[in-house]
Amino acid sequence: MSGKTHDRRPAPDSDNRGRAPNSRDRVLTPGPRARRPCPDPGKLQTDILYRATIDYYNLRQVHGDMPHKTPRGPAPDLPAEQARIVRESQEAMRGRKVLEVASGTGSATREIAETAVSVTGVEIATNMLDLAAESDNPPNVSYLAGDAFDLGSIAPGKSFDGGFAAGFLHTCPASRYAEFLHGFHARLEEGAVVFMRSSRPTSPDAVSRLFRVEGHEDQFMTRQLSDGSEYIMVENDPTEEDLRQVFEPLSRNLEIHIGNYWWWIRYELP
Ligand SMILES: C[S@@+](CC[C@H](N)C(=O)[O-])C[C@H]1O[C@@H](n2cnc3c(N)ncnc32)[C@H](O)[C@@H]1O
Repeated sequence: MSGKTHDRRPAPDSDNRGRAPNSRDRVLTPGPRARRPCPDPGKLQTDILYRATIDYYNLRQVHGDMPHKTPRGPAPDLPAEQARIVRESQEAMRGRKVLEVASGTGSATREIAETAVSVTGVEIATNMLDLAAESDNPPNVSYLAGDAFDLGSIAPGKSFDGGFAAGFLHTCPASRYAEFLHGFHARLEEGAVVFMRSSRPTSPDAVSRLFRVEGHEDQFMTRQLSDGSEYIMVENDPTEEDLRQVFEPLSRNLEIHIGNYWWWIRYELP
């Protein structure tokens, strides 16, 4: 990686971050477009969010997302950012035995398998796992059913000197970062390199579905599948400072990049 950069463009929702709570409407919306009735507060409990995330990813493979109401519009810099994130992921995992969490259908798994010695993907949604297994995978890739928060018994006896997570941390409640990272790092060797990346909810459609609620440190998003079913999930979009606070105490040589469409970090374990 070429080093940390600071070219962060303000996210479209950033204007309303930290807005004072409105006594009539406890949902802190990111903008006037996103005003909606307060969701059932029960749906914001950690265990319900966890279940909704798994259900959403399982059923997204069956129904597909509801088509976007607001198109993104031109994003000429998106392909270059995507190419960079893939290149930097591959460089970070080059020559390593990688434990990947939340491997989904394996698209990022196969990317890093081009440079890694091996990649073991762990995924909780069975439909995602099935699709990953049915894909054209190189021989150095394997997939296991498992939970990112419970990696202790995954692949017993295997050692890993690379850790990878694409598209996971933004759905992880901030209150579970320590639990996740403690378990993930415990499965990696001393000096292992870790690469994490997540998309940022910066498209007009994503922004229109974001909201914050008083008393919750996470940001949330409503997601809808084409069968009309609706899911409330965590959708955090951490700043460089947020990431530094979480990862610096746990790592060496932390590099952070906040792009326009993704954020990504690379670090080493002490
Ligand atoms: C945005 S997708 C990313 C998939 C893949 N890594 C990629 O980049 O294409 C998020 C994935 O995380 C998985 N996931 C969510 N919570 C998980 C958990 N607790 N343990 C393992 N996988 C989880 C979902 O099922 C889904 O496949």
